[in-house]
Amino acid sequence: MKMKIGLIFGGMSTENEVSVMSANSIFQNLDKTKYEVYPMYISKKGDWYRYLAQDQIEIDEKLSNTEKIGNIIEYLQALDVVFPVLHGLYGEDGTIQGLFELLKKPYVGCGVLASSVGMDKAYTKIIFDRANIAQAPYIYLKKCKDRYTYVDKEFNEKKMQIEEAVEIIEKEIGFPAFVKPSNSGSSVGINKAKTKEELKEAIQYAGKFDNKILIEKGIQGKEVECAVLGNEDVKASCVGEIKPADEFYSYDAKYQNENSRTIIPAEINEETSDEIRKLAVKAFKAIDGKGLSRVDFFVEDKTNKVYINEINTLPGFTKISMYPKLFEAVGIPYSALLDKLIETVWDR
Ligand SMILES: Nc1ncnc2c1ncn2[C@@H]1O[C@H](COP(=O)(O)OP(=O)(O)OP(=O)(O)O)[C@@H](O)[C@H]1O
Ligand SMILES: [Mg+2]
Repeated sequence: MKMKIGLIFGGMSTENEVSVMSANSIFQNLDKTKYEVYPMYISKKGDWYRYLAQDQIEIDEKLSNTEKIGNIIEYLQALDVVFPVLHGLYGEDGTIQGLFELLKKPYVGCGVLASSVGMDKAYTKIIFDRANIAQAPYIYLKKCKDRYTYVDKEFNEKKMQIEEAVEIIEKEIGFPAFVKPSNSGSSVGINKAKTKEELKEAIQYAGKFDNKILIEKGIQGKEVECAVLGNEDVKASCVGEIKPADEFYSYDAKYQNENSRTIIPAEINEETSDEIRKLAVKAFKAIDGKGLSRVDFFVEDKTNKVYINEINTLPGFTKISMYPKLFEAVGIPYSALLDKLIETVWDR
């Protein structure tokens, strides 16, 4: 009997299109002698569709090749396992994982807690601080209407105008600073600020995506990533490096600019690479990760010091994405990687 696997993609997130690309690669590489694949598309509005074409997954504006699912719960119940290939809100943040838990449906990847901690940059930082993993100094602001609340490390709050927040950030963080919506993905809403004026604009802009805003000291260095796989006995891949075509790895540099490059393995010494691989596993365990994650770091040019940037619990999964490429580089081809990921579902 083949395993009935539900591949869920799209989603109510700014990363809907990226998810479709990831799902297409997974769909084409799942071993059809082992799995009966049921692709399901969640539209940006949140409607669920069965995807009917059997060769590849491609979503156009008319939603060709799809048919609305009448009873989502019944549909999910008939499957053996689900694989959420969703990035960002309502997919990578624990919400859909909560649905699977309620239905007692086994699923690939992190559970509710790890997903929500990993999605919310402010809370990821708190856990990493606690795990004593070095990261860029940061300030956490909350937006309420046109005022801001400065939240200190003990969660004491102080309301202020944006100008006052900018003063504090200049003093404590300096320039360049990176301004991010706490719930972000694919660099949406993120800006690098080099002056007070840019900082103010970047804060206002980030506030359009989330009420929680994070401002971080810019680290001058290499941007590197490490993939992890497993539950208790977690495997780390080699370390890969990103060379963004832009000044930083913006949305455009990630998906539109063909001059962005990846280097596998990263051009760093073995000691640093070992340190990163250990930290990747540590970070994954710190958030209570299961299944898979891609953990991103900076290696500072001047000091070679390693700073963690973030953890992605459902990383990009196209054939050219970093996660599968990192494991391919250590001898696990794409299809075999999918088998291993699905195996992790059964030993929780
Ligand atoms: N503190 C920092 N110092 C230097 N560069 C930074 C810093 N924070 C972010 N960046 C740059 O901005 C990019 C996007 O930031 P980040 O990785 O936090 O966002 P993201 O939207 O969550 O991305 P992902 O799609 O990986 O989830 C990084 O890849 C990096 O190029
Ligand atoms: Mg990132």
